[in-house]
Amino acid sequence: MKKIVVLTGAGMSAESGLKTFRDADGLWEEYPVQKVATHEGWLNDPTLVTQFYNMLRKKCWNVKPNEGHKLVAELEKKYKVTVVTQNVDNLHEQAGSTKVIHLHGELMKVCSSNDPDDPRYQQTLTEETCEIEPGTKAADGSLLRPFIVFFGEAVPMISAAAEECQDADIFIIIGTSLNVYPAAGLINYVRPGVPVYVIDPKPISAGGRNITQIQKGAGEGMRELTTLLG
Ligand code: OAD
Repeated sequence: MKKIVVLTGAGMSAESGLKTFRDADGLWEEYPVQKVATHEGWLNDPTLVTQFYNMLRKKCWNVKPNEGHKLVAELEKKYKVTVVTQNVDNLHEQAGSTKVIHLHGELMKVCSSNDPDDPRYQQTLTEETCEIEPGTKAADGSLLRPFIVFFGEAVPMISAAAEECQDADIFIIIGTSLNVYPAAGLINYVRPGVPVYVIDPKPISAGGRNITQIQKGAGEGMRELTTLLG
């Protein structure tokens, strides 16, 4: 069975009703990224950061996977598929994808601010518990923080993702501006000669590599690609 790796970004979830970050009217226009998504921002004002992710979490409970997520999940009928996502929502999982690597964390989880990666202090939230009261502590006594990789922090899942990319037979990129590293560098792990497809309404440059662009939204683009793959 051939292996497909799908790298996704905020545009993947746009048709579900979640805002992207860098488009006009994107999230970073409304909320200054330095305040709500950086390591420094967390240290300066953990209450604001907690409230920002409470707001995002609430939005996420009310959205559903779109056709694009569903068609990505359906690729598993014919291929071995790994989804590497920069998204913190769980729409790929809800659509049925069984192997999803979250590079930038998961919105529905919280963790210790002392050691975010210690699984003993991670909790998965439910609809009832998804609003975190600022000041709440993790079991190790540190402030409970969103399980999000802030700018300025290491990306622990990057080596697992790079390994997946190394043995991809087909590489698909959906809905990411490829502005944020190390995620944007993953394409460099894809072997030469492996076909690379990019689905995005805007033209995307993928480091000079020969790519097939499908300049459409995630749903329509995945429909077209599914036909193309046969
Ligand atoms: P961006 O907001 O930078 O890029 C979103 C991309 O989605 C753009 O290229 C859009 O053209 C495209 N897009 C818009 N609508 C679409 C649609 N309907 N279908 C397909 N594509 C569409 O978001 P990311 O590249 O995901 O990190 O941003 C990367 C990281 O930066 C995020 O994970 C987040 C952010 O800061 C953290 O918060 C740590």
